[in-house]
Order: sequence, then structure tokens, then C-alpha cells
Amino acid sequence: MPYQVTIQPSGHQFTVEDHETILEAALREGFSLPYGCRNGACGSCKGRVLSGQLDYGVYQPNALKDAEKAQGRALFCRARPLSDLTIEAKEIGAAKDIVVKTLPCRVEKLEKRADNVMVMKIKLPANERLQFLAGQYIDFQLKDGKSRSYSLANPPHDGALLELHIRHLPGGLFSDQVFSTLKERDILRLKGPLGSFFIREDSDKPMIFIAGGTGFAPVKGMLEHAFAAHMDREMVLYWGVRSLKDLYMAELPQQWVAEHPNFSFIPVLSNPEQGDPWQGRTGFVHEAVMADFANLSGYQVYACGTPIMVDRARDAFTQTRGLPEDAFFADSFVYAADAEIAPAA
Ligand code: FES
Repeated sequence: MPYQVTIQPSGHQFTVEDHETILEAALREGFSLPYGCRNGACGSCKGRVLSGQLDYGVYQPNALKDAEKAQGRALFCRARPLSDLTIEAKEIGAAKDIVVKTLPCRVEKLEKRADNVMVMKIKLPANERLQFLAGQYIDFQLKDGKSRSYSLANPPHDGALLELHIRHLPGGLFSDQVFSTLKERDILRLKGPLGSFFIREDSDKPMIFIAGGTGFAPVKGMLEHAFAAHMDREMVLYWGVRSLKDLYMAELPQQWVAEHPNFSFIPVLSNPEQGDPWQGRTGFVHEAVMADFANLSGYQVYACGTPIMVDRARDAFTQTRGLPEDAFFADSFVYAADAEIAPAA
């Protein structure tokens, strides 16, 4: 039967279903407890049980010594409640709390969602999981010593495979490879998580998300995390692309609109093709936001796209719409990635 778990000192509560470990349920509900392998081997998820009974599950003795167990400690990636529980655990609230790892990974799935967008899913070794905050990115480390940055498009609670949206820019060393020679089961090397593009959860301000092209990837992860965490803040997504075919996952935000009354979705085409059956918004994506909001002083804005889009949005919102500088979030990786894979830009 489901049991209620209370985390101290935060007082956060969540329900653990029959088939779940404490960690799985916490992540599903959007609470970032620390973890590493999620397999009872590393000890990263260790915390204290203050009251209640649990099944400790199967784990490696080095990860939880008998003396620690006697002191009320448990591995939350393996443990399941046998009653309502109160646990003591440090919730991760900032990127600095997360260990950056360098790991091999295997290409699990390659799915072309548009002419120039590949959705790639990668898998880590059996005993490894990547802890991250929704919206962060990883670097692929290439043989020439260079690296390429890609945002994680999945939320942390859905982390068995890592999802990346890769835009093909001809001449881009890595993206050319992804669209030609890279195959499922190939091995790559990644470093992460990196970046500070994640939802500031200590605020209750409404949020505007602006995605340009594959800038949708981190925003997807952030929104899926927000929905799982039952955030009731107003959320609006503006997704700017050139033409209709570039909205490579439009069915997903449309589904979120149907499921979440606090979410709305406004796709914006900058250059619709002749024949696009389009009666929606057109123009630059930040201008659509400007048209809809006379005053952004009470909002947070999360933007991911080309450097030009991000700069224009920041300047326009802070200079003409009253958005505080510290309420605009965009990750600098877009600059690095863009420079590396789009030298002609
Ligand atoms: S022992 Fe590694 S995450 Fe639990």
C-alpha cells in the first residue's frame, strides 16, 4: 500500500507507491534528493530515518555499513517504506551541490524528428546515474580534445536514458557525425551536469519560457519537472522556429496545455513556408512576448536559443518591460555550442 514520507528539515511530503523506492518516489514528485548509482553501490543517497519502518532492499555492504544501519541510516535508492516515514535528507537546491562526472555512455536511440533535428537517447553504464537539475547540459568529449554542449531534455525523475535534441548544422563536427555515421550502440564520453539554467524554485513568480529551435530541449526538461513537482505557478512557453516543420515536438506542449490549466503554449513562426497551414503568431519570438506583456516586473523569464535571440530578449524585457536583471535566466552554453557548431553564424 502507498505510504507517506516526510523529509526533514524541509517538511516536504510525498507518497511512495508499492512499486517504488523512496528515491524514485521523491524524484517523481520533483524533490531532488542526492543520488549517484541508484543501485545500492555508491552510498550517495544515504540518509537518516527518523521514524517508521522500512525494507532496506538489496545493496552492497560497503555502501551501507551495519554500524550505519544501526544508527538509523538507509540507502534511499533501495529502501521501501513499510509504514509512513520521516526521513532526514539534504535536498539539492543548486548546481553547486551536484558532483560533475565524466562518464562513458552508449547511444541507445536516434530518432530524426525534423530534417535537421535528431533526438538522441543515451544510456550510462549499469551502475551510474547522472544527478542533475532540469535544464542543465552535458559536454560530449570528442577525440580531438574539443567538446560539444547539449542540453538535457529529460527531467531528472525520468533519468534512465538521457535525451538530447541535436540540430544539424552542416560543417559542425559533431552534428555532422550524428546525422551521418553515428549509430545506435556507439560509445561516447560525456561530462556533466553543467550550467545554471534551471528553475529557481524558491520563487513563486509566474514564469515565461522562451525557446528558439532546439532551445526547446532544456525547456522541455524544466517543464516536465515543474509538472511532476506540481508547481502551480503560471507558466507560458513561447517556442520560436522558422516554419511549421521546425516545431518538431509540437504535440507535446499541446498535450501539456490539455493537462495543466496553469500552462499555455504559443508557437511563433519567423518565416512560415508558402503552404504552411498557419494562422498562429509570426515574427521574432521575443516580440510576441513583448506584444503580450506590457509589464514583466513580477515575472521570471527562462530563455534558451541563439545568442542573438537571448540577447534581444534580455535587452528588450529589462529595458522596456521592467523585468529585473536577476529574473532573466539563460545558459551561456548556447554561446559556446553555437560558436563551435555554427562557425558561419
Ligand atoms: S547507493 Fe548509489 S544512489 Fe543509492
